[in-house]
Amino acid sequence: AAFRASVEHGVRYTAEDVTPRRRPRPAPEPVTGPFENAADTDPAVAESRAWAQQVTGPSSGYVPVLTQPLSTTTQVDDVVARAHRAGAAWAAVSPADRGRVLRAAARHLEAARTDLVAAAVHEAGKTVAEADPEVSEAVDFAAYYAQAAEALDPASEAWAGARFAPDGVTLVTPPWNFPVAIPIGGVLAGLAAGSAVIAKPAPPTPRCLEIAVEAVHAALDEVAPQIGLDPAVARGVAQYVRVPDGDLGRHLVTHEGVSRVILTGAIETAEMFASWRPGLPVLAETSGKNAIVVTPSADLDLAVADVVRSAFGHAGQKCSAASLVILVGSVGDPRTATGERFRRQLVDAVSSLAVGPATDLATVMGPLTEPAQGKLLRALTTLEEGESWLVRPRRLDAVAQEAGLGTGRLWTPGVRDGVRPGSFFHLTECFGPVLGIMTARTLDEALALQNAVAFGLTGGIHSLDDAEVAHWLERVEVGNAYVNRHITGAIVQRQSFGGWKASVVGPGAKAGGPNYVAQLGSWSDAPDVP
Ligand code: ALA
Repeated sequence: AAFRASVEHGVRYTAEDVTPRRRPRPAPEPVTGPFENAADTDPAVAESRAWAQQVTGPSSGYVPVLTQPLSTTTQVDDVVARAHRAGAAWAAVSPADRGRVLRAAARHLEAARTDLVAAAVHEAGKTVAEADPEVSEAVDFAAYYAQAAEALDPASEAWAGARFAPDGVTLVTPPWNFPVAIPIGGVLAGLAAGSAVIAKPAPPTPRCLEIAVEAVHAALDEVAPQIGLDPAVARGVAQYVRVPDGDLGRHLVTHEGVSRVILTGAIETAEMFASWRPGLPVLAETSGKNAIVVTPSADLDLAVADVVRSAFGHAGQKCSAASLVILVGSVGDPRTATGERFRRQLVDAVSSLAVGPATDLATVMGPLTEPAQGKLLRALTTLEEGESWLVRPRRLDAVAQEAGLGTGRLWTPGVRDGVRPGSFFHLTECFGPVLGIMTARTLDEALALQNAVAFGLTGGIHSLDDAEVAHWLERVEVGNAYVNRHITGAIVQRQSFGGWKASVVGPGAKAGGPNYVAQLGSWSDAPDVP
């Protein structure tokens, strides 16, 4: 019941909350720190700051100066050294007191909700309907991992007296598609485990994470004096650093002072990290190629709604998104009444999605974070043998330019019919607003198609037949299997989130679930972790 921000949060936003404001507001307090230099003479910083003040408006005050990226290896070394100094003090804080800091962080993240939503709308192109639950997830991570921290107390019954030792320094490298919840979830989990954490935002979404870390700093400032933690070192346990990709990023990832990396991103990035520093403990949640199976016993109205939401929420830019729908038996055959109805309703629903900039509250499907390129561009423009467009995607460059988004970033959603087993679209993650339809004669055939992909992140079934559902649940090879529900938007504790097969690297306990924190360290008298 403590983790209910995602379930019960009732705030509704007005256009004013998420569009740039003209109203003057007091200048934010500059944050002091080794790399948070105000650089008043730098026009880029001044511009960022002015932008932040406009966007966040009369906010809760969690509006730090946009931190400058690090530029030298010495600065990176200093960050790691600071983390070690702070980490030594943090490791001595009792699990119960770490839990207090995390509970305070939940409050401060909730208080920063408007700023976080605005940042996610502007930086990541998320609609408010997508950004707001993401903030709830961040709040829930804090409350949930507070309990996980408390459970690490050697006196706690949870681990039957086994002793837990935290890792040294944890590095969190998140993606841009969940720029608040995923990175701050990693930060909070590391803190719960007793580690100092260095958090590096994905380059397109620096402010989302900076505001979230600022909320964690506010929690540390508040609680440190009560738990005997030197306030001067407390902020060093959660450092936010912008590090350009390339040599400097590599220097940080391969730094011998970093004990573990929590990565969420493409499988190629996980492989790159492993090649840079063999043996580095990496906990990674990577790519997915996710399908929803619809059987003839499904509630078709619900199935269409859930497929559309899963495929086109945040323009399909989610590792959890539905990329395929696999229609079983009559649902797949357009010559039957059921099959005709499913496709007709799908076309209607997809064609009616309002596409536009995320700052427009009428928008249901916002922009791509980067212009469509590579695999996604191929998926949006090129049909394979046997395929046809049920809904043909279109580039909306004029609308995009008018909204200041640049070309190639706004697309209407696409649906490819007739995707063949073993084809490019069957097996390749494309990460954008395009859904493929496959057909299967039986549920087992559908399972074979679903399990043929290398990844195993999310999957769904729509069926009102209990025996079918049980059969599917027994065999589907995914980390998160959803029944008669959309397959994105896992809720902390209710649906802990993580993958299987090529979607996961490391021990594999799922985020927002039992053992996630407990896997971030080492045990004596080891219990089964995870
Ligand atoms: N946790 C995110 C979701 O479930 C990725 O959609």
